[in-house]
Amino acid sequence: MFKYWTFLQIITYVVADLSCERCASDDPNSDCRNGTIKEKFKCPADEQACYAEDIINDGKTPLYRRGCAPEDWCDTQKKNHAAALKFCSVCTDGDMCNNKRFGAEDPAKIQCYKCDSEDTDSTCRTGSIDNESVSCRSGSSCYQYYVSTSRRDIYSRGCGTSSTCDDLGKQYGQSLESCKLCDDDYCNNEKMSIAV
Ligand SMILES: *[C@@H]1O[C@H](CO)[C@@H](O)[C@H](O)[C@H]1NC(C)=O
Ligand SMILES: *[C@@H]1O[C@H](CO)[C@@H](O)[C@H](O)[C@H]1NC(C)=O
Repeated sequence: MFKYWTFLQIITYVVADLSCERCASDDPNSDCRNGTIKEKFKCPADEQACYAEDIINDGKTPLYRRGCAPEDWCDTQKKNHAAALKFCSVCTDGDMCNNKRFGAEDPAKIQCYKCDSEDTDSTCRTGSIDNESVSCRSGSSCYQYYVSTSRRDIYSRGCGTSSTCDDLGKQYGQSLESCKLCDDDYCNNEKMSIAV
């Protein structure tokens, strides 16, 4: 049987085999956000990975996208979108592997990046979608803040509340250089500019 296969059939069988969820939506209740797209989209030979990405352009709602891509897709998208790219992952371990819900498993919760660093060169200061993210209690916001005292700098991201920045202002006074809250999954990945 095998010997009757043409070379092209073998290539097709061995390589161009992956199927992915494929969609784009800005609806937070959509199948695209949930990762529950049923139709299998067969990937072209030069895109043998499945991706899932979440982009928020200034002041806009999140855009959820899934599909087939080359394996280095997220590196490309980091360059294209900088901090507007909130989440990106690529998988190759089987059909429809890009099926994880964007954000926390529990829809009542928000997913935020979490890190603490005193190092100016850290990804905690510059912002990175490769940093750890955690699911926060419902009603939380994501925060990112930067404190600069004569002794040290503190860069921090994580789960907060609407009063986090006010509380930090009381605690650190003028040393609180910046503090931001936001309410979309993975939104607290922006670069923190250092004082000059
Ligand atoms: C997506 O998930 C949410 C939360 O579980 C649910 O309320 C919503 O109906 C789902 N959307 C679709 C299209 O199934
Ligand atoms: C995430 O942030 C921490 C600082 O809290 C840093 O040490 C670590 O290298 C970062 N991880 C990645 C993958 O960038």
